[in-house]
Amino acid sequence: MHSFEQLVEIFETRLNNTLPFPLGPATLYEPCRYFMSIGGKRVRPVLCLMANELFGDITEDAYRAATSVELFHNFTLIHDDIMDKAPLRRGQTTVHIRNGLTAGILCGDVMAIYAYEQLAHIKTALQQVLHLFNRTAIEVCEGQQLDMDFESREDVSLDEYMEMITLKTSVLLACSLKMGALLGGATTGNADKLYEFGKNLGIAFQLQDDYLDAYGAESGKIPGGDIIANKKTYLLLKAMENANALQLSAIQALLTRDDEAKVPAMLSLFTNTGADIACRQAVAHYSQLAFNNLEEAAVQSSRKQQLHDLATYLLGREK
Ligand code: IPE
Ligand code: IPE
Ligand code: MG
Ligand code: MG
Ligand code: MG
Repeated sequence: MHSFEQLVEIFETRLNNTLPFPLGPATLYEPCRYFMSIGGKRVRPVLCLMANELFGDITEDAYRAATSVELFHNFTLIHDDIMDKAPLRRGQTTVHIRNGLTAGILCGDVMAIYAYEQLAHIKTALQQVLHLFNRTAIEVCEGQQLDMDFESREDVSLDEYMEMITLKTSVLLACSLKMGALLGGATTGNADKLYEFGKNLGIAFQLQDDYLDAYGAESGKIPGGDIIANKKTYLLLKAMENANALQLSAIQALLTRDDEAKVPAMLSLFTNTGADIACRQAVAHYSQLAFNNLEEAAVQSSRKQQLHDLATYLLGREK
């Protein structure tokens, strides 16, 4: 069984040798190569490979699925940065700022197609994998649309937020695990358990992402980007729920502002209303649900240790 670090290394070596982009047009493919090479934790491909390894040696099909999901994820990030007007990702300039909007749109598009091209090589359970991947890709689009719709709404509920992050983020982690499991010959019961594990892990992961966006010093993104964009994050929704009348009107006034003091002022309100603590508790809650799901998978427990360690690492991450 391989650790997270080992699988990242194995995956990245293969990725560098098999990156599918041709040389030209360079204006299209150079930014694709740039974005794939500036880091990223490689969480989704490693989840796919780890789930596959639960059931035996890692298969060629699993490497294809892992490459596919990382290409797809990077496509969503390039387009997400356009939608979120983000200049910085992984500590580097985003594609649409570096190479222009056309490159950002087309790099994302072509990477999504190359993701499918990887899947086309899969020799086992292709129909099931493709169906799962398609459903997931549709859900990510739905989640991203909800995220954008929520920016201009002030009556978003915590339930709506949970639905939105499940769609935009958690189903892709769940899909990665389930693809790896299916390609390893898992039973439907085990494949579904791993999907549930990924779903709860993904919710905790996005809650943590919201937290780091606000409080993280090393996220590699613009600090407070979600606050600047009026994103309806867990922190903001919880702050509004917990606020007294004075705090609530201060939050509402900040939502109409666009100056430098907005971020620190909002952070104080998050902290003073206890939203920061609530967010950390929610991360712990969904992590626990995820660990329970993993426990329930009918696989020898020593084989599940690496997935357990990866989940633990993710929840304590700083970027
Ligand atoms: C960022 O995902 C987008 C979210 C779903 C929060 P990651 O934090 O996995 O991004 P990279 O690939 O490691 O940069
Ligand atoms: C991104 O959510 C989810 C997807 C890209 C599908 P965020 O907008 O919070 O991700 P970051 O913070 O930019 O990585
Ligand atoms: Mg976004
Ligand atoms: Mg974003
Ligand atoms: Mg974020």
